[in-house]
Amino acid sequence: MRSASIVITIDGPAASGKTSVSRSLALRHQWSWVSTGAFYRGLAYVATSEGVSLDDEEALAKLCVSNVWQVKMGHDQTEVWLRDQDVTNEIYREENGSVASRISQYPKVRANLLAAQRKCAESVRGLVAEGRDCGTVVFPDAHVKFYITAGSASRAARRAKEQGKDVEETRAAQVIRDTQDSSRQTAPMQVPPNAHVIDTSDLSLDAVVEFLDQILRKELEI
Ligand code: DC
Repeated sequence: MRSASIVITIDGPAASGKTSVSRSLALRHQWSWVSTGAFYRGLAYVATSEGVSLDDEEALAKLCVSNVWQVKMGHDQTEVWLRDQDVTNEIYREENGSVASRISQYPKVRANLLAAQRKCAESVRGLVAEGRDCGTVVFPDAHVKFYITAGSASRAARRAKEQGKDVEETRAAQVIRDTQDSSRQTAPMQVPPNAHVIDTSDLSLDAVVEFLDQILRKELEI
């Protein structure tokens, strides 16, 4: 059943621009915004800090529902808190993204993070959710779905610039992550049925946001 609030999903590969685009769209409409990658990044960080083995699916699944850590929706970032400490900056490091991708393969981890992700659409007027499986698994009945992508060279250049890293190294890490995210058995990254697919390689952030906004206003008749 469709949730009472408006739900927009934006899926796509690493550094496709989905975080900036979804955040701007949410801001335009005064809707809430969540980056679902924060759940996997948070788990990766907490597991590493708490000494939980990254090979132990059962222990990781248990940690998903532990109250030692929380994900909070913010305007600028989806935050992660571990025992009253804001660890948001730590979770967004590229190395932690690779660990997140690795542990996101586990079906029990995915199942145990689902309820908290869906809860983000409760008691809000609207939600823009971005990730890899938002339009396929988390919110299959979303009102409007997008899949945004960009060529690997421009994605690597964007992320390397953001993080002050070497472009080739960044590109190699992204290839591994994208392959892992799209080839896993459970909820692989894919274009959701009925999604609007947009290539952002040669477009500015403003142009992408404007384009998506026109599509969603038309679909929602607002
Ligand atoms: O979008 P991101 O880079 O913050 O995501 C980090 C990792 O989390 C990504 O490589 C795979 C995983 N992830 C996922 O499996 N499903 C999602 N909906 C979001 C992220």
